[in-house]
Formats: sequence, C-alpha cells, structure tokens
Amino acid sequence: MTPEVRLARRGDVDGLVALESRHFIGNLDPAERADGFISVQDSREWLTRAIDDGGIHVAVTPGGEVVGFIAVTAPPEYPPAASLPPIIAARRELVQTLEFNGVPIAQQRYAFRGPVCIAAEARGQGVYSRFNAVTREAYRDRYDVGVLFVSADNPRSLHTATTKLGAQVLAEFEADGRRFHFLAFAFGGHRTAAERTT
Ligand SMILES: CC(C)(COP(=O)(O)OP(=O)(O)OC[C@H]1O[C@@H](n2cnc3c(N)ncnc32)[C@H](O)[C@@H]1OP(=O)(O)O)[C@@H](O)C(=O)NCCC(=O)NCCS
Repeated sequence: MTPEVRLARRGDVDGLVALESRHFIGNLDPAERADGFISVQDSREWLTRAIDDGGIHVAVTPGGEVVGFIAVTAPPEYPPAASLPPIIAARRELVQTLEFNGVPIAQQRYAFRGPVCIAAEARGQGVYSRFNAVTREAYRDRYDVGVLFVSADNPRSLHTATTKLGAQVLAEFEADGRRFHFLAFAFGGHRTAAERTT
C-alpha cells in the first residue's frame, strides 16, 4: 500500500533522524550509494524547527513508520559565512549571484528544497512524485522558486530532480572536495504527467 503523505509532527523527529542517518553518505558503503545518499545530516534542533514552521512532509506506512520525508524551508538568518559548513556557504553565495527565469533568485520569494529521502523499501512507488505534487500545492502561495543542490555522484537524484520535479541545473560548485549541481524550479510550474497520476 502506498504510504500516506502528510505534514510532519514533532513525534516524527526520531523517525526522521533515523532515516537521514541511515542514508547519510558517511554511513553507506560505495555500492549502497549508487541509489542515492544524503550529503548533510540535519540536527534534531533544525528538524524540530522546520516541523514547527510547517516545512517538512513525511511519507508514513499504515503502521506509522516514517519511510520518507522532504523539507521545504525559508532562507535562514545566516551567521557569518566563516562559521557555515562549506556546502551551505556555497549555496548561499549562489543564491546571491544567480538568476532564475531572468530575475535574480535573491529578489524572488525562494525556498530551499531538501533534503528529500525515501527509504529503499518505499522507492519506485510514486512517493517522490507525490512529494512534488503535495509540496507545490502547499507552498506555491508562499514561494516562487525552489533551489536545491544535488551531488554530482548521485545520478538517481539528479535524474528525478530534472525529469520529475522539472528543475533546471543552473551551476556546478565544489565543497568539501566534492562536486554538486545547483538547481532551481518554479513552484507554480505545471505539474508533470507523473504528478497528475498520483
Ligand atoms: C532520490 C530519491 C528521493 C528518488 O525517489 P525514488 O522513489 O527512488 O524515485 P522514483 O522511483 O520515482 O524514480 C527513480 C528514477 O531514477 C532512475 N534511476 C535509478 N537509478 C538511477 C541511476 N543510477 N542513474 C540515473 N537514474 C537512475 C529510475 O530509472 C527512475 O526514473 P524513471 O522513472 O524515469 O525510469 C530516492 O531514491 C532516495 O531517497 N534516495 C536516497 C537519498 C537521496 O539520494 N536523496 C536525494 C539527495 S538530497
């Protein structure tokens, strides 16, 4: 049975931490990374705040197990760049310098999309497209543009972001010795065929 997608609650935090930890690049062997991985592990505090702001959706089995989640969050008040992890500092810099649809991203109502993570046993069941449809509907009045980064070593994620979400690659960057793609999409964009069937 396809998992239910709903807004996350504080009681989901343990499940989110466990899911993210299980798919963090540092906790997977090279063969497992072929199906995707998480590049940055979020703190319990960040996840709780994002839930309180209505920024996290989860996919839950009928038995109540969290088998997927997606974050869509407003840009934070950044501390000085020197204290940011390199990947977050690079993302901030790109938002300040790049345009999307001819307008600087920083001048649009933009959100950070991600991480997104679906447990291995729940993949290939339409949860990803359902996440895209539900979050577009939930946030299109609040944001114009979503930005995300995808590791160059994560072709599954790049494929889904470009073909199913419809995001465009705007730049590539390097952080912590690894390469990433920086992408953007319109929240009000047309739903793809995959989304319409979910
Ligand atoms: C990335 C992720 C969210 C996608 O969800 P999913 O349920 O696997 O997505 P779907 O099954 O709907 O689609 C997977 C697509 O990737 C394709 N794919 C699978 N492996 C691939 C690879 N190595 N290279 C390119 N495409 C690949 C599949 O063919 C399919 O595309 P298609 O439907 O056009 O044939 C999920 O795999 C995941 O959570 N992975 C681990 C964490 C992660 O990588 N998160 C993203 C980075 S933040």
